[in-house]
Amino acid sequence: MIRAGIVGATGYTGVELLRLLLAHPQVEPAMITSRGNAGEPLESLFPNLRGQGALVFQEPDVGALCDCDVVFFATPHGVAHAMAGELLSRGTRVIDLSADFRIKDPELWSRWYGQPHGAPELLDEAVYGLPEIHRAQIAEARLIAVPGCYPTAITLGFLPLLEQALVDPARLVADAKSGVSGAGRKAQTGSLLCEASENFKAYAVPGHRHLPEILQTLSGVAGLRPGLTFVPHLVPMIRGILASLYATLTRTDADLQALYEARYAGEPFVDVLPAGGHPETRSVRGTNLCRLAVHRPGGGDTVVVLSAIDNLVKGASGQAVQNMNLMFGLPETLGLESIAVLP
Ligand SMILES: NC(=O)c1ccc[n+]([C@@H]2O[C@H](COP(=O)([O-])OP(=O)(O)OC[C@H]3O[C@@H](n4cnc5c(N)ncnc54)[C@H](OP(=O)(O)O)[C@@H]3O)[C@@H](O)[C@H]2O)c1
Repeated sequence: MIRAGIVGATGYTGVELLRLLLAHPQVEPAMITSRGNAGEPLESLFPNLRGQGALVFQEPDVGALCDCDVVFFATPHGVAHAMAGELLSRGTRVIDLSADFRIKDPELWSRWYGQPHGAPELLDEAVYGLPEIHRAQIAEARLIAVPGCYPTAITLGFLPLLEQALVDPARLVADAKSGVSGAGRKAQTGSLLCEASENFKAYAVPGHRHLPEILQTLSGVAGLRPGLTFVPHLVPMIRGILASLYATLTRTDADLQALYEARYAGEPFVDVLPAGGHPETRSVRGTNLCRLAVHRPGGGDTVVVLSAIDNLVKGASGQAVQNMNLMFGLPETLGLESIAVLP
C-alpha cells in the first residue's frame, strides 16, 4: 500500500483527494494536516467521510510527513516551496496541486504570485503533470506540478489544433466559466451565497495567474509563443468549468472531428463527443473526465472547441491521483473510474 499524506486536507481539493484516496485500492491515507483543525477527527468536518477510518487532522510537520511514500500539497502557493525539498531528500515523492512548481521561470512566477520563488533549485526536476502531454516524464518523476483547473480545460481543448499547426497561434481566445469551489473553501466575500448566486460575471480580464501557465504549455506545443485572450467567469454553481475556445483556421480542409478523435483515442480521461456535441459540466461532475466537442460554425474559418471538466477532479485532485498512479506504476485509471452523478 502507498502511504499518502495530504497537506491542507480541510480545503476543497484536499477533501476531494481524501474522497478519491480512501476509495483507492492501493493507497492508505496516512496523515492529513490542518493548522486550524488539528486534533479534530475527519468526520467532524466532512460527514460524507464518516465511517472511512479514524483519521485525525494534524499540524503540518514535515518530519512526520517524511514517513509517507507520497505527499500531496493541497495548499495555497508558497507552502510546497517550504517543504518539498526536505521531503524529496528523505525519499518521499511530492505531488503539488498549487502553482508553486508549474511555471519554469522563477522571475515570471514571482511577478504573478507577488513573492519571491521559494525553491527555484527544484524547478528543473518538477514535471508538469498533464499526462496527455508528459506521461513518460511523469512516470519517472519525484516532483509533480499538477496543472491548474483552467489550464487543464484550455490546454486539452487547443492541443490537437496547435500540434497540427492548423490555427493562427497569435489569435487564440479562451472564454471560460468556473463554479465557485474554484476559489477554495476559505471564507471570502465573493464566495458568499448572496454574492455568487443569481449572478454571472467576468473577472481578472487584464490578467489571470493561469495565463502564463497556459502560455508556457501551449508554447511548448506550438513551438512559438502563442497569443491568448483569456477571460475567466464565475458562475453560480459549485463544481465545473466550461471553456469555449476560439481560433482561426489556417487551412479549412482538415477533418477536425477525425483529428480530435485520433489525438485522444488512447486517452482514458479525454472524451471527444460525436460531431455536433455540446459537453455539459454536469456530465463530468465528480469524474476525472475532460469532455470535448469541436465545431466549425457555418463551415467558416473559425473553429470552436468546447471543453468541460470538474475543476476539483480533472482540474485538481483527480489529475493528482492520475499522476500518482503513473509515478507508482499502477494502472492509470485506478480509483478514478467513477461515473458522474445526475441529475
Ligand atoms: N479549488 C480548485 O478548484 C482548485 C483547482 C486546481 C488547483 N487548486 C489549487 O490547489 C490549492 C488548494 O486549493 P483549495 O481550493 O483546496 O484551497 P482551500 O479550500 O482554501 O484549502 C487550503 C488548505 O490549505 C491549508 N493551508 C492554508 N495555509 C496553509 C499553510 N501556510 N500551511 C499549511 N497548510 C495551509 C488549509 O488548512 P489550514 O489553514 O487549517 O492549515 C486548507 O486545508 C491552491 O493552491 C489552489 O490554487 C485549486
